[in-house]
Amino acid sequence: MDNSGLWQEAAQDIYWYRKPGIVLDSSRAPFNRWFPDGVTNACYNALDLQVGQGRGEQTALIYDSPVTATKRQYTYTQLLAEVARFAGALADRGVVKGDRVLIYMPMVPEAAIAMLACARIGAIHSVVFGGFASNELAQRIDDATPLVIVAASCGVEPSRLVAYKPLLDHAIELAQHKPEYCIILQRPLLSAQMVEGRDLDWLQVMDEAQPVECVPVDANDPLYILYTSGTTGQPKGVVRDTGGSIVALKWSMKAVYNVSPGDVYWAASDVGWVVGHSYIVYGPLFAGCTTVMYEGKPVGTPDSGAYWRVIEEYKVSVLFTAPTAFRAIKQEDPQGQHLAKYDLSNFRALFLAGERCDPHTLGWAQEKLQVPVIDHWWQTETGWPVCSNCLGIEQLPIVAGSPARAVPGYEVRVLGKDGTAVAAGDIGALVLKTPLPPGTFITLWDAPERFVEAYFKTFPGYYETGDAGYMDENGYVFVMSRTDDVINVAGHRLSTGAMEEVLFDDEDVAECAVIGVADPIKGQLPLGLLVLNSGVTTPPETITARTIALVRDRIGPVAGFKLCTVVERLPKTRSGKLLRGTLRKIADGDSWKMPATIDDPAVLDEIAVALKNMGYPPDETSAT
Ligand code: COA
Ligand code: AMP
Repeated sequence: MDNSGLWQEAAQDIYWYRKPGIVLDSSRAPFNRWFPDGVTNACYNALDLQVGQGRGEQTALIYDSPVTATKRQYTYTQLLAEVARFAGALADRGVVKGDRVLIYMPMVPEAAIAMLACARIGAIHSVVFGGFASNELAQRIDDATPLVIVAASCGVEPSRLVAYKPLLDHAIELAQHKPEYCIILQRPLLSAQMVEGRDLDWLQVMDEAQPVECVPVDANDPLYILYTSGTTGQPKGVVRDTGGSIVALKWSMKAVYNVSPGDVYWAASDVGWVVGHSYIVYGPLFAGCTTVMYEGKPVGTPDSGAYWRVIEEYKVSVLFTAPTAFRAIKQEDPQGQHLAKYDLSNFRALFLAGERCDPHTLGWAQEKLQVPVIDHWWQTETGWPVCSNCLGIEQLPIVAGSPARAVPGYEVRVLGKDGTAVAAGDIGALVLKTPLPPGTFITLWDAPERFVEAYFKTFPGYYETGDAGYMDENGYVFVMSRTDDVINVAGHRLSTGAMEEVLFDDEDVAECAVIGVADPIKGQLPLGLLVLNSGVTTPPETITARTIALVRDRIGPVAGFKLCTVVERLPKTRSGKLLRGTLRKIADGDSWKMPATIDDPAVLDEIAVALKNMGYPPDETSAT
C-alpha cells in the first residue's frame, strides 16, 4: 500500500540534512525507493540528535551480562563519544562511505558501537551471529567483501567459552576475499592470538583515533546488509536503506510499542538477528529511549528469574523476546515463583515474535505478568512488524494464535496457488501488496535478480513472505507455517536445505532429508534422515554422529542439529520429488493422507517406524 501521507508525515519526525521532496519513487518496481532525494544519517538520528535535544545525560545503553558478572551504562553523550572515536578508527583504516565492515561479535556494547560507527561514516555493516561457524562466516565475507572485520576474542555461553578468533581466522582462510584489517576486542576471559600486520587491538585503535563527524548519505544508501536463511545454502543478503529505516523504526517505536523518549525498552535477542538491528540498536535510540543489551539467557544465568531481575533493576517498560524464551522459563518455573520476588510495576507490555506463539505460552505469560502480551509477526526482510496489535494507536482485543491485523503501511492478502484471494478462514500464501512501506529491504546484496525471483515472481504485484496462514472475518492474520524449507529453531531462522548440503558432503551419504519436527521448548528442531551408499559397512551410529558433528562444524551450534537416523529409502513422488510435508506430518503426529503421487507407499511405513524409534511423534498417529 502506498500510504504516502502517513510516511510523509512520519518523515517530518527525523533529522534530514536535505528534506526529501519526493515521498516514493515506484518507477522501477519492485525496486521501490522511499524519500529518494532526502539526505540523512542514521547515527546522527540515533545519537547527535538526541544529545542536541537535551538527552545527553540520559542513559542510552545498559549492558547487563550475567555470564561475565559485568554491568555498564552509557549516557547518550558517552555513547556518542565512543562511536565518534571508533568511526575515526575505521576512517583511519581507509573505510569510506559505501565500504563494507563485517561485525562478528557477541552481545557486548562494542558491537553496537561498531554498527553505529559504520553508520556515522556511511559504511555498510554486516553483522554475523556468533553462533555461526567458519564456513557460514566465510560465505558472508565473500559476499559482502568487507575492508575491515570487527570481532571479539570470545563469546560466553553458559556452558563454555566460544573462541571467536580461531573461527574468524579459519573463515578468512576459507574465503576468497581477504579483509585488510581485523579489529579485535580482547575480552578478559580469553585473549586472542593476533596476526601481525592484519589484526589490531580495539583498545589501541580507540586510543589512537580522533572522533569524526557524521557523513551525510542519500536516503537510499544502504545502512546495512544482514544475511538470512533461504531455501539453499547460499544465504540472502538483505539490504536495508538509511532514510526509510530511520522513518519506519522511529514511527514503530511509538505506534507499535507505545514507548516514548526516556522509557527503557529491552529486546532480549542478539545483535546478529534483525531484532537486534531494529530494536536493540537503532529503533530505541532513534526514539530517545534507553536500550538494554543483555548477554545471558532466560534460564540458567543464573535462574529463570533473570528476565524479571533485569526488568526490575532497570525499570523496563517493554520487553520483546521470542516465545521460546517464555517456554523455557515456564518449564523451569511453571508457578512463577521467581516472578513473585520482583517489582515489575514499571512493566507495561510484552511483545513476542520470531516464531509462532502457541496459545498456551501466551496464556501463561498473560496470567503471570498481567500486562498485554502481544504476538507480532515480521521477518528479516521487512525489518519491522507486518502484523501487530499497535499499542500506540489502539489496543485491539488479543486473539490467541494471531499477531492481530496488518500494521498501517502493510496490506496483507491470503492467496491460493492460482494467485486469487482465498475465502476468510482458508489457508493460503501470506503475501504483502507492493509497494512495501519504508524500512523494508530494498534489494539483496549483489543479487538484484534473486530479489525479484525469490520474492516478487510468484504473485505479481505482491511480496511473497514465504509464510502460509489465513485471515479471519475481522482481518486477524494467523501465521501457521513456512511454504519453503526454512525452519524456526528457538526463534532462529534456519535452512534445512543448507543442512542437507552439508550432509551430502559425507562420503557415505547417498541421499538425505532434513525436516523440522515440533519441540516443546524450541518450537522446532531439525531432524535428518540419511540413506547410505550401497556397500557401506560403517555402523550407522558412527555415521550419524559424524554428520551431526559436520553440521555443527560447518553451520554452527545454532543449527541445533542433534537428531539424525539412517533409513533404507526416502518417500518420493513418481517424478522423484521428496515428500517433505508428509514426513513432517508423520513426525509431528498430525493427521496425514497417503499422497496420490507416491512412488511406493511402503516407504512411509518404514519411515514411521524409524521416526517412532527416535521418539517422534510423542503420541499415537494414524493415516486417514
Ligand atoms: N555464540 C556461540 N554459540 C551460540 C550462540 C552465540 N552467540 N548462541 C547460541 N549458541 C549455541 C548454544 O550454546 C547452543 O550450543 P549447544 O548445542 O552446545 O548447547 C546452540 O548454539 C543452540 O543455541 P540455542 O538455540 O539458543 O539454545 P540454548 O539451549 O542455548 O538456549 C533458549 C535455549 C530457549 C534459552 C534460547 O534459545 C533463548 O534464549 N532464546 C531466546 C530467544 C531469542 O534470542 N531469539 C532470537 C530471535 S528474537
Ligand atoms: P526472521 O527473518 O529470522 O525474523 O524469521 C522470520 C520468520 O519467522 C517468519 O517468516 C515466520 O516464519 C516466523 N515468524 C516471525 N514472527 C512470527 C509470529 N509472530 N508468528 C508466527 N511466525 C513468526
